Amino acid sequence: MGPRDHFATRLGFVLAAAGSAVGLGNIWKFPFMAGQNGGGAFLILYVAFVLTIGLSVMLSEYAIGRAGQRNPVGAFRVLKGGAWPAVGALGVIAGFVILSFYSVVGGWTLAYAIKSVSGALASNDPKVLGAAFGAFIAEPRGVIAFHTAFMAMTLFIVAGGVQGGIERASRVLMPALAILVVVLAVRSVTLEGASKGIAFFLTPDFSRVTWGTVNAALGQAFFSLSLGMGTMMTYASYLDKQVNLPKTAAQVTLLDTGFAVVAGFMILPAVFAFGFDPQAGPGLTFITLPAVFAQMPAGPLFAFLFFALLAIAALTSAVSIIEPVVSYLIDERGVSRRAATWGAGAVTWALGVPSALSLGPWKDVTLGGKGILDAVDYLASNIMLPVGGILITLFIGWSIADRAKEEAQSDGVHPFALANVWIFICRFVAPAAVAWVLIGGL
Ligand code: PHE
Repeated sequence: MGPRDHFATRLGFVLAAAGSAVGLGNIWKFPFMAGQNGGGAFLILYVAFVLTIGLSVMLSEYAIGRAGQRNPVGAFRVLKGGAWPAVGALGVIAGFVILSFYSVVGGWTLAYAIKSVSGALASNDPKVLGAAFGAFIAEPRGVIAFHTAFMAMTLFIVAGGVQGGIERASRVLMPALAILVVVLAVRSVTLEGASKGIAFFLTPDFSRVTWGTVNAALGQAFFSLSLGMGTMMTYASYLDKQVNLPKTAAQVTLLDTGFAVVAGFMILPAVFAFGFDPQAGPGLTFITLPAVFAQMPAGPLFAFLFFALLAIAALTSAVSIIEPVVSYLIDERGVSRRAATWGAGAVTWALGVPSALSLGPWKDVTLGGKGILDAVDYLASNIMLPVGGILITLFIGWSIADRAKEEAQSDGVHPFALANVWIFICRFVAPAAVAWVLIGGL
């Protein structure tokens, strides 16, 4: 979408925003985070953060973006100026960081789409599937080639401004992915031995909750909803006044959370049924799902469809991660869309290479006790996005509260009964709660 293009319909915007939100965060990251962080307790914390802080930040980003009609840096500048545009700049930087590792995992999904047709994954033995993933990830040329392919696809979409095409395509493909995830979840929960996994996912064991768990759930809420870095702000800058922002925020949030929860039911029961390790981390989905496919008629076909659709869902998210960067370079630096896209993309690609190597040849390199991909993800999701969220809500609550209330109600067109509650959350609750979790986590 070019600068100041506008979404033709509210549905178009909902699809784009949901396309941004639903991606690897829901299907790859959520299940393995839940697996690493005690299951049920993580789920409850995650949902609580989504419904309070997540919804409020989402509405805040919509209001800033639509009122500002600009990229994140420009929006803060026209609405208030001072030091505020730095918040937008933080978001632009987060965009580089997130897309760098996101594209690596996007590449894994492309590779797995191909592998599933070749029959390379037809097994339900944890050892075999773990070894297959391990072998794939250990071979840098393949991983980097798929990282490159995923990044190139993203950049073609962003540079060519063919979002029209991808938006229309996702109208069909996203529901298809949703159906597939539900089918797989049904298969997974009906496996013999699945009940242990269901109990793990639904029974909160608060005795195992640490600051790390709380911090992980908060970071996951920001990451999954695409919040804290100006993505939703940028998309909302392409919106007209008529759109009902609170209603839209609620719909996008529900859709995203629904996807994540069903993905939990797709992975975790199977993890327990087949005797995988729920703590396996970033490889969990890639190791577990092939075992589920192996238990289904036409398994390879399901596997191919699933990984291909997941790659497409990841693409619509990747596009939204780089869009704030690109719109910043266009609006504020006078760069052409083409040059902005390929320039930013090249830098992001290079940043991603260490993540690509980090589960293979560089698996012993650690930053703060984590592998590189995990560490970069942690820096972005658990620090940069929440800090962005604090600043965004402070801006709404203290700097432009009256203007924000009008914007959220489309200047009186869509009365919003909870406007004052939202402002209160932005003033006190969200910044304090997020800061508390951040500080506790460190
Ligand atoms: N929400 C996306 C996902 O869940 C990732 C994302 C993060 C997109 C931040 C935009 C901004 O896959």
